[in-house]
Amino acid sequence: MPEKKQKKWIWWKHGVFYHIYPRSFYDSNGDGIGDIPGILLKLDYLVNLGVDAIWLSPVFKSPMVDFGYDVTDYYNIDPVFGTKDDFIRLLHEAHKRNIRVVIDMVLNHTSDRHPWFAESASSHDNPKHDWYIWQKGNKFKKPNNWRSVMGGSAWQFDQRLQEYYLHTFFREQPDLNWRNKEVREAFMDIFRHWLDLGVDGFRLDAVNMIIKDKKFRNNPGLLTGVLWRRRWFTRNQPRSFKIVKQLRKLLDTYDDRMMVGEVYTLPPGDSEMAGNYLKSGDNAMHLAFDFSLMFKPFSARKYFKAIDRWYASIPEKGWPCHVLSNHDLRRIISKYGKGSSKYKRAKVAAMLLLTLRGTPFIYYGEEIGMQNTSLRRSEILDPLGKKFWPFYKGRDKARTPMQWSAGNNAGFSVAKPWLPVNPDHVRINVEDEWKDTESMLTFYSSLIRLRKEHSALFAGQWVPLRMGLDGVIVFNRISTDEKLLILLNFTSREQALSLGSSFRLEVLLSTHKVPHEKMETSLIHIESFEATLMCDLSYFETEQFR
Ligand code: NOJ
Repeated sequence: MPEKKQKKWIWWKHGVFYHIYPRSFYDSNGDGIGDIPGILLKLDYLVNLGVDAIWLSPVFKSPMVDFGYDVTDYYNIDPVFGTKDDFIRLLHEAHKRNIRVVIDMVLNHTSDRHPWFAESASSHDNPKHDWYIWQKGNKFKKPNNWRSVMGGSAWQFDQRLQEYYLHTFFREQPDLNWRNKEVREAFMDIFRHWLDLGVDGFRLDAVNMIIKDKKFRNNPGLLTGVLWRRRWFTRNQPRSFKIVKQLRKLLDTYDDRMMVGEVYTLPPGDSEMAGNYLKSGDNAMHLAFDFSLMFKPFSARKYFKAIDRWYASIPEKGWPCHVLSNHDLRRIISKYGKGSSKYKRAKVAAMLLLTLRGTPFIYYGEEIGMQNTSLRRSEILDPLGKKFWPFYKGRDKARTPMQWSAGNNAGFSVAKPWLPVNPDHVRINVEDEWKDTESMLTFYSSLIRLRKEHSALFAGQWVPLRMGLDGVIVFNRISTDEKLLILLNFTSREQALSLGSSFRLEVLLSTHKVPHEKMETSLIHIESFEATLMCDLSYFETEQFR
């Protein structure tokens, strides 16, 4: 066998990320809410799972109207999550275990209780008045037709000032004015503070919304269809790209840090737009989320098309990342049907996520197959769910406590959890799944381990062979020293797959085939919902290795 050529390991490119929603991960102090010391207690779980980095949804001081995405103090930790010392301890302990820590930076808005906003709203002449986006108007006439993501107008009238302020999200989240130099400088200081403390990176919340049209023009009307849906004048304004570049410059003055942007596009899955935020690949965002797969039905053809489009959107020096679920949408497994076949589909998706070229992000609980929790009206805490019930029940369903065991409160807390635990925790939980060789957790951890061991997986080329035809995706991952073959059957149909010529293959991991089994064949039989990762042993017999 040829000598293994070691690729340079770049943690945010080649590693696996794990997204923690801190309220729901592990409660260390018995108040029913997850916290930072709780994450500390579960670090070894993350080591066993094999992840390389964690991204924490916001832990800054917050009145929690939007559960942390409404910040009142960017320099301190909310007491519900612990103290700044706890956070520093987390950094230290995570780093000791080779796990990087990425925090969520909420840029577009603050809480309406942030002292900046109090000053801004105190008078027209206050020096911070211009830190937020105010427009003249009267009670009966809104400045324009801009809509809030959370429903209704994006403008809130302030009686005292007789002006409107803009809120792209809830009215308790006034939008900052990023055209104001002092706002930009204030954030540069905040970034510096956390970088100096040793944070490894940032997830930039709603980064494509931070700049709005200078002239406050109406978004094109409904009749213009796609134009309207894109929110032409409130997203992806040229200036946002400049700001991202400025942030990159700051990060580049530190060693080995990164940022990943939430580029939420309308219509969802506008991969080209997400790709634009990488600019030339090494001068803007390190990574940007493309949410296409979250919105696609489980179809090999549709998944393939989305992936292909995403890859085509990545600049030459850029790098893709992939995600199946997060705290804003439903849990991916709950999209995959009702019966037991959804677990089979979820394994196919897991193998795809962890064998694609690009950094995988796993949402807490995805690795054990946690599904949406159905909640009663009285249990809903997300203001969105309260507002739109029963038509839309909000985001709580995908934020319920991590299921550590079959025991009380799923082993998450000794107290009543802030959101109910899913009753299925008696079946779906970390403790039992670690013991079960067929479990989702065992499957995820094996995939993560293999991804680490095989440079073809973490850094190799992606060569598609079957592009969703007949419900099957097949591709190679190739590095200088190995060639892997990935077979994914998105359907319940068994089929025979012709490889063209004969190959010597060894199974590395499979939902159906026996690990380490070797075969020499030109025709592979694939079972219903089979996901198989194989090593192409013939590769070493090719010209280049003679
Ligand atoms: C996107 C976050 O993911 C979501 O949870 C939040 O409500 C909005 N941004 C506003 O910060």
